[in-house]
Amino acid sequence: MLHTRPLHPGFGIEVVGLDLSDPASDAAVDQLVKELDRHSLILVRGQTLSNARHVGISRRFGDLMTHVLKQFLTTGLPEIYVLSNVTEDGKPIGNHKEGWNWHSDLSYVAEPSMGSLLYAVEVPPVGADTLFASMHLAYEALPPEVQASIRHLSATHSYAGYYGKAFADREPLSDEQKARTPDVVHPLVRTHPVTGRLSLYVGQDIIKSVNGLPPEEGNALLDKLNRHAISEEFVYRHKWRQGDLIIWDNRCTMHCATPYEDTKYRRIMHRTTVAGTRPF
Ligand code: OGA
Ligand code: MN
Repeated sequence: MLHTRPLHPGFGIEVVGLDLSDPASDAAVDQLVKELDRHSLILVRGQTLSNARHVGISRRFGDLMTHVLKQFLTTGLPEIYVLSNVTEDGKPIGNHKEGWNWHSDLSYVAEPSMGSLLYAVEVPPVGADTLFASMHLAYEALPPEVQASIRHLSATHSYAGYYGKAFADREPLSDEQKARTPDVVHPLVRTHPVTGRLSLYVGQDIIKSVNGLPPEEGNALLDKLNRHAISEEFVYRHKWRQGDLIIWDNRCTMHCATPYEDTKYRRIMHRTTVAGTRPF
């Protein structure tokens, strides 16, 4: 039996009294796998996870993906993608300013991630909250005529386009990285493959164009949908503590990092990314 409490009226639960470092918690993890479909986001606080255990738990959700930015896979386990402002021996140990815009993870590949498990190794005392928005709630709140007008539209997601905007001050992507991330087309409204529930599938910076509409009209629509999608009523703001683990469903949520005093404080976050299937 899991002990849970809600995080937001419409989605997200906290599970309490669970020690995920204990191998005996595997059965509970398998319950979390099921709960994720229903609640979209699960918080478990106060954990002490080794990298191996983090990966082990994550594997119970599915196969794991490795990030195209290999320079940030620095823990010795390639399944762990590090987000951090910390440098060691002059080299960043993780990607700083990753996710400082609304997105769902790996929407830029043909089979985007179904879920991510983000573990807080070291966090600043203030700032660096992460915002999570339910795309089920966002879609369901749209007027029926808007739902009908976007239901069969698709959009082109571009990692190269995103990278150029988000990390304009860095070395551009290598040819190999570009080859691994060609533009892909996904529906604007997707169906949760387990529950059948619909959600908006949008994002800032990552979407290059809406297909079948003149660019201006497509961009205006995207703007409108993105603004709607992150309305306060669909958003849960998480204030991290060291040892927090959040598991979210990339098929029906978006998230966004918020800034912190990155010259004063250290932040180290470890993410595993579970493979998904083609959105429909
Ligand atoms: C991620 C992400 C946001 C944050 O881990 O995928 O976007 O606040 N993180 O670190
Ligand atoms: Mn992310």
